[in-house]
Amino acid sequence: MLAQRHYPNTRLRRLRANAGWRALVAENTLTPHDLILPLFLRADDDAAAIASLPAVVRHKINDLPKIIDAVAKAQIKAVMLFPKTPDELKTDDGAEALNENNLVGQAIKKIKSHHKDMLVITDVALDPYTRHGHDGLIKNGEVVNDETVEVLTAQGLLLARLGADALAPSDMMDGRIGAIRKKLEAEKFHNTVIISYAAKYASCFYGPFRDAVGSGKLLQGDKKTYQMDPTNSDEALQEVALDIAEGADVVMVKPAMPFLDIIHRVKTEFQIPTFAYQVSGEYAMIMAAAEKKWLDGNGAMMESLLSIKRAGADAIVCYGALWVAELLAQQ
Ligand code: PBG
Repeated sequence: MLAQRHYPNTRLRRLRANAGWRALVAENTLTPHDLILPLFLRADDDAAAIASLPAVVRHKINDLPKIIDAVAKAQIKAVMLFPKTPDELKTDDGAEALNENNLVGQAIKKIKSHHKDMLVITDVALDPYTRHGHDGLIKNGEVVNDETVEVLTAQGLLLARLGADALAPSDMMDGRIGAIRKKLEAEKFHNTVIISYAAKYASCFYGPFRDAVGSGKLLQGDKKTYQMDPTNSDEALQEVALDIAEGADVVMVKPAMPFLDIIHRVKTEFQIPTFAYQVSGEYAMIMAAAEKKWLDGNGAMMESLLSIKRAGADAIVCYGALWVAELLAQQ
């Protein structure tokens, strides 16, 4: 309830007058514990730089220990892995996803042997492995749901076996959380966390990510038959309710800043751990404007992350996580 307050007895500027008061009354804060760093992986002979994601590179497996040292030193607790599968290993069925020695498999082993406490979150979806760039299997021109869920379940189990701390299904097939959870329980992976991309929208903001994993130029059509329509918001609550009922520990909203209302509704409605993904296009917009000196990049990044926290996110997947942690350490 808002109290009846009147000027000049009340002057809201009193508590804005200096940095000390502002810090004492700050309602939201950002710390490195709020951040998850996505890491792109590459084969040794592939290119590191990603033109549409300034300051983000694809990492070689052997370089991961050094990166993870920096991540841990920055007090960031979790990384998320995305492979750029060599083109010659991409197939229509994305079979490379089930190869335990694929880039993600190698990366989990490398990271865990070097730094066992770093939380490793792995993506469950087929798009980095398919020749058509879709997240699932295609039959008669359609991305088929139930057969895809079977493959995703096998992929999830493999990742759990390899030592992933969390599985993050980003595919938006119906029923995949329940199928994966059932399999994990049956195989006694009781503590594998599922972070569901529960409300994932068919967004144009994923473009730079698709460049990074090499699926952009391959993608046939769009993902509108499985990812959500940006016109909808009630539907996001339905998606989240289903995923919670099916066994998700954490739900995620993606993209973040164009969907702050969804983050807020989800957190308010369900009161369970809710993450947000500040996606590649959001990051690229800030970096591009900063490069042109049209925006203060540090300020824009911090303000965008605070908006996502204020909306209700408990943690944020952020390509600039290391940079942000450094800014926070200077505060
Ligand atoms: C696909 C996937 C995408 C992202 C994460 N997992 C792209 C897509 O759905 O096409 C996007 C992340 C980003 O843009 O940063 N499973």
